[in-house]
Amino acid sequence: MQKILTGQVLQFLANPFEGPAEESARVITDGAVLVEGGRIAKVGRAADLLADYPRAVVTRYGDHLICAGFVDAHVHYPQTAIIASWGKRLIDWLNTYTFPEEMRFTDAGFARETADRYLDLTRVNGTTTVTSFCTIHPESVDALFDAAEARGQRIVAGKTCMDRNAPDRLRDTAQSAYDDSKTLLEKWHGRGRASYAITPRFSPTSTPEQLAAMGALWAEYPEVLMQTHLSEQLDEIEWVKELYPNSRDYLDTYEEHGLLRPGALFGHAIHLTDRERARLKEMDASLVHCPTSNTFIGSGLFDMAGLMAEGQRVGLATDTGGGSSFSMLRTMAAAYEVGQLRGTPLHPAQLLWLATQGSARALQMEGKIGNIVEGMEADLTVLDLASTPAIAQRHVRANDIWEALFPTIMMGDDRAVVDCWINGER
Ligand code: GUN
Ligand code: ZN
Repeated sequence: MQKILTGQVLQFLANPFEGPAEESARVITDGAVLVEGGRIAKVGRAADLLADYPRAVVTRYGDHLICAGFVDAHVHYPQTAIIASWGKRLIDWLNTYTFPEEMRFTDAGFARETADRYLDLTRVNGTTTVTSFCTIHPESVDALFDAAEARGQRIVAGKTCMDRNAPDRLRDTAQSAYDDSKTLLEKWHGRGRASYAITPRFSPTSTPEQLAAMGALWAEYPEVLMQTHLSEQLDEIEWVKELYPNSRDYLDTYEEHGLLRPGALFGHAIHLTDRERARLKEMDASLVHCPTSNTFIGSGLFDMAGLMAEGQRVGLATDTGGGSSFSMLRTMAAAYEVGQLRGTPLHPAQLLWLATQGSARALQMEGKIGNIVEGMEADLTVLDLASTPAIAQRHVRANDIWEALFPTIMMGDDRAVVDCWINGER
């Protein structure tokens, strides 16, 4: 069946960090997107598409903005119910709130119920793809992949692996992490829209033997992604030095075990040394900025402008439940605020690009998702740029699309998300 969505259509034509940001996108006012078989079949003027495809089912969005669905490149779906837990910094926050909650995921029913709730909460916020950590329990991985499959949703996930510095019931071993990850990877990677990510939580909760086992598994399946955490808080970095006295730095703990190459996703990456930055760039690994988490847990200010100027591959993410919101709009706002605190405000085009193409690029999926281009998968989010009285009265003053969009980025929430299309289905 052919479907047409009409509205203002926003397509990125270029990376807004590499040229004039305001010229990086094209907005087709009175535009339309033709969707067929889960893909974007054509993009153009509404009058032309409506005339050319008279049998298509039409959904009219007036002057709402149709953009690519948001791509959240780093989340912990098992932390859904502990979001906004008060008063701790990283290691205490993990021990006090996160680990007790993650223990509940031995229960497959609880895992599935949380996965469904999580995907519902993100979809109403316009997010069409997430890359999630699960827990050490294989059931938690099946639950999320099953829930995403039922929604036709593109998803990246993996079993979190930890064999030390975690409670008894939340530890695997190097061997069981390898075996379980391999079974899950074989079951899910490439099934429908699912992708597997090998997922050692971070160096403090893995022995060198476990990191080596993850590296060996990645060598066997080089086509999958690998996700972990890097240099989020200063005490964490000191702890890594104690645990890995022979490594050059935090990044080296991963590289020494075969966990640094394209397709490696490093969440946070705030306090990097010059060597680490140069090596990340050289290896074309991905960094994922999680601004609401970095301010909420008190981690620090990500150097977006500097890292982008170096040509690093960077995505944007909520990091729920360390992050304080399920919304990528709120996350873009936080990225703007972090940029301001560093004296480098991000342009609205850069913020929207990070939440769509940038994150897709971090996942090496920029040819499939994160933009409105013919042939790409039809994951679309429709935004009302005047969704509340406060935003509407600001929006009427706008002179161009970026001024029209920015109040929604800064003040918008799920009320701004009019609709969400996943795999060509509303
Ligand atoms: N580092 C290791 N695990 C986690 C986690 O669950 N959340 C955050 N924010 N950082 C981590
Ligand atoms: Zn995380």
